[in-house]
Amino acid sequence: MAKVVTSEVERSISISSNPKDKPHYSKLQHQHSRRSPFCHFSPKLSVYILITCGILFILFQIQSLKIPPISPSLPPNNINPWNFMHKLQKVINISNATLAAESERCNQELNSLSSKLRDAVTFLPLKDLRFSSSAQKGHTWFMSSMYDAHEEGEVQYQQFPSESSKGRLLCLKGKDTHEGAWNSYALAWPDSLPYNATFMKGLTFVSYNHYNYDNIWHGLSAMVPFVAWHIKNKCELPTRWVLYHWGELRLKMGPWLRTLMEATFGEPLYIEDFHHFEDNNSDDDDSPACFEDAVVMRHNEGGMSRQRRIEVYDLLRCKARSYCNVSNEGRSWDVDGKGVPVIGMTMFMRTGPRSFRNDSVVIDIFQKECKNVEACQFRVAYSNNLTFCEQVKLMSLTDVLISPHGAQLTNMFFMDRNSSVMEFFPKGWLKLAGVGQYVYHWIAAWSGMKHQGAWRDPDGEKCPYPEDDRRCMNLYKGGKIGYNQTYFSDWARNVLNEVRSRKVEEALILKNNSATNTLGSICTCN
Ligand SMILES: *[C@@H]1O[C@H](CO)[C@@H](O)[C@H](O)[C@H]1NC(C)=O
Ligand SMILES: *[C@@H]1O[C@H](CO)[C@@H](O)[C@H](O)[C@H]1NC(C)=O
Ligand SMILES: *[C@@H]1O[C@H](CO)[C@@H](O)[C@H](O)[C@H]1NC(C)=O
Ligand SMILES: *[C@@H]1O[C@H](CO)[C@@H](O)[C@H](O)[C@H]1NC(C)=O
Ligand SMILES: *[C@@H]1O[C@H](CO)[C@@H](O)[C@H](O)[C@H]1NC(C)=O
Ligand SMILES: *[C@@H]1O[C@H](CO)[C@@H](O)[C@H](O)[C@H]1NC(C)=O
Ligand SMILES: *[C@@H]1O[C@H](CO)[C@@H](O)[C@H](O)[C@H]1NC(C)=O
Ligand SMILES: *[C@@H]1O[C@H](CO)[C@@H](O)[C@H](O)[C@H]1NC(C)=O
Ligand SMILES: *[C@@H]1O[C@H](CO)[C@@H](O)[C@H](O)[C@H]1NC(C)=O
Ligand SMILES: *[C@@H]1O[C@H](CO)[C@@H](O)[C@H](O)[C@H]1NC(C)=O
Repeated sequence: MAKVVTSEVERSISISSNPKDKPHYSKLQHQHSRRSPFCHFSPKLSVYILITCGILFILFQIQSLKIPPISPSLPPNNINPWNFMHKLQKVINISNATLAAESERCNQELNSLSSKLRDAVTFLPLKDLRFSSSAQKGHTWFMSSMYDAHEEGEVQYQQFPSESSKGRLLCLKGKDTHEGAWNSYALAWPDSLPYNATFMKGLTFVSYNHYNYDNIWHGLSAMVPFVAWHIKNKCELPTRWVLYHWGELRLKMGPWLRTLMEATFGEPLYIEDFHHFEDNNSDDDDSPACFEDAVVMRHNEGGMSRQRRIEVYDLLRCKARSYCNVSNEGRSWDVDGKGVPVIGMTMFMRTGPRSFRNDSVVIDIFQKECKNVEACQFRVAYSNNLTFCEQVKLMSLTDVLISPHGAQLTNMFFMDRNSSVMEFFPKGWLKLAGVGQYVYHWIAAWSGMKHQGAWRDPDGEKCPYPEDDRRCMNLYKGGKIGYNQTYFSDWARNVLNEVRSRKVEEALILKNNSATNTLGSICTCN
């Protein structure tokens, strides 16, 4: 069927602004008649009919030979070979004409059927307001009439065309960046794409994110299922990305996330804006785009097993390190002159909200504990002025990450697996902050890190409202974090002890089994 479609491509526009010149658009023209797949049988059939006619004619001739001529004076026309051929030709001509007429009629009927199918393509709003109250739960308001494919332990996704779409492609009228209900989607058979549709070749990733693509954590959550799909489908690469938030088109993602995705997929990201192919001559801003192959994700990691998640974070780590020219061999090889495994302890600081009220005093506490442990290397870094690769490099040197609650903690998965995380909250978060405050516990579990718990500051700004009033959260959100010297020291000592015995054990295993050397250095998808 794809052949039929491409043969009708009116023009193919290469977009030069695209760094890789990759996505191709082709505007379909539906004015002239297209051959329907159902009429393809006609040449074969006509051969059968012609053969049948020929046999019947010969049988008839043989029959007439057996009957003696009534009038012996008449010349035996019937056995004249030229006459025979002439008659045969006539029969063939007649059947040929009949077939041609039939085929023409069939073509017309199919064209009319195809145009009816084209007319029947129904666009529904991308954002279904009926589900606005449950937008984050099982049945999202994004493409609400569709159901996801879901195997146990795998990501939930939709693919078009597929068996469940009955071979239909996904079409979008989805350019609006302000109101998701003005964007719409439909399914259409490749032979009956809606009028004026632009056919978009290659694989398209369509992402739905309830939050935004600039936030490291929310953006990453939306990307994880695509990476899982990529691993599962022979590392297939997308030609383009289409990003939605509440059904509204988004044209960019934050630089951290974008770099991570480019590292993971090994090429620049092309984010579709649907504007390249707009006709100059039409005010028709509403022409649909139909995708040759589309994968739609709208449930983040939902449904993925622990194993699948670990695979995704392993790939992200491996690809990011390769991209940044950081060794993928792992920390077990990092030993000091005496062969003692080096422990990297890193304080990853914030500025502004949720920073430590007094950085230097907190730094002193942890630095002192690190000094007490053989081969412990202490580092302090500020997340606000590190590049992506500086963060990846820093994490590759870290076994114990000490950091306040905040997006910078997402970087934890760049550490080797089994590394430790120590988290800090200002006053007031436990009761009011909702489940979102546990995201770094979750990322730790999903990426194979060890979350060593969180310290919650008992002191802080006084809230003038009752303690569980939501207005207090606005106050606490920007709060700063104090310290408890006794608690911090004990905590650091315990974590360092645990990390040290794990690393000594790992070093022994490694010594015994030097074959594992190369294990970590090759990424799943290459
Ligand atoms: C068959 O059709 C061809 C043209 O299609 C014509 O030239 C020929 O004379 C016809 N033969 C007979 C026997 O009608
Ligand atoms: C049958 O008709 C087609 C055109 O309709 C013609 O090209 C072809 O030569 C015809 N075949 C015969 C055997 O007459
Ligand atoms: C297709 O586009 C042309 C102009 O580009 C417009 O005149 C026509 O109405 C459109 N057809 C449909 C069905 O929207
Ligand atoms: C739109 O107009 C510009 C110049 O005005 C032209 O270069 C371009 O090819 C036109 N695009 C289409 C799709 O016709
Ligand atoms: C990694 O190394 C390659 C080759 O030496 C270089 O081209 C590339 O810019 C480096 N990448 C980074 C992020 O430093
Ligand atoms: C931080 O605490 C130390 C020790 O209590 C104190 O000397 C220093 O002035 C404090 N710094 C700030 C900025 O409050
Ligand atoms: C990074 O930011 C911190 C805190 O804002 C500042 O103290 C430090 O000098 C900055 N480093 C660089 C290299 O700009
Ligand atoms: C992490 O630790 C567990 C047990 O503590 C161990 O089985 C596993 O092999 C370790 N994983 C890595 C990647 O070192
Ligand atoms: C500091 O933490 C310890 C427990 O580690 C606790 O006993 C003590 O009361 C805390 N101090 C303050 C001022 O909260
Ligand atoms: C390493 O190998 C030695 C003997 O070859 C064995 O006694 C020891 O238990 C092994 N250690 C580990 C951690 O596997």
